[in-house]
Amino acid sequence: MSVPVLTIDGPSGAGKGTVSRAVAKQLGWNYLDSGSIYRALAIAALNNNIELSDVKAVVKVAGAMQLEFDCGDELIVNLNGIDITHKLPTENTGNTASIIAAYPEVRAVLLQKQKDFQQAPGLVADGRDMGTVVFPDAANKVYLTASAKERAERRYKQLIEKGIDANLIQITEEIKLRDHRDQQRAIAPLIAAEDALYIDSSNLSIIQVIEEVLNWVR
Ligand code: C5P
Repeated sequence: MSVPVLTIDGPSGAGKGTVSRAVAKQLGWNYLDSGSIYRALAIAALNNNIELSDVKAVVKVAGAMQLEFDCGDELIVNLNGIDITHKLPTENTGNTASIIAAYPEVRAVLLQKQKDFQQAPGLVADGRDMGTVVFPDAANKVYLTASAKERAERRYKQLIEKGIDANLIQITEEIKLRDHRDQQRAIAPLIAAEDALYIDSSNLSIIQVIEEVLNWVR
């Protein structure tokens, strides 16, 4: 029997991370934050002063990067032996990640790194294409979204709480731009899998979303 997978896809700031972590904890399953892999690559590319339009160079960095994840209560990520956790949530990292995530060659290199997370007793995988491309056979799929305004406000609060400087108007614009890029790209675009449970969390609390997802799995 293959290890069960629950996929949670959706746009930036929909609450996927919080919901996925809580559901994984309740089920006692492993957790994959696939966005952090794209973000780690963005950091590696920026560290190496790589031109983002130079696909070959980005692919080379992707192939060479050594990632270690500690998926405890707080996700800790080491890139080539250095803790990059504090750099992961910034808007610059997210925007750079979304630019390089549009390259098919980059996605191909990162595919296996994501599949490797499918370990017993189960996996909750959060991202954009978990249910459509990386784990198409997952038994349970969720598409979690919220209005762009609501997501921008949540992201703003998150950043301020982490002590990171933020501007709400700029974040709203960046979220819309990132949505557009993620939804319109030719490969693995952000789209709900046909067999996904669709949840709009604009008017729901995180607790309500977690309950809905757990009920769906059980
Ligand atoms: O989810 P997160 O905001 O951390 O993801 C950062 C960017 O990485 C996304 O905007 C998206 O372009 C890309 N990504 C992706 N596929 C995934 C996860 C993230 O293309 N499975």
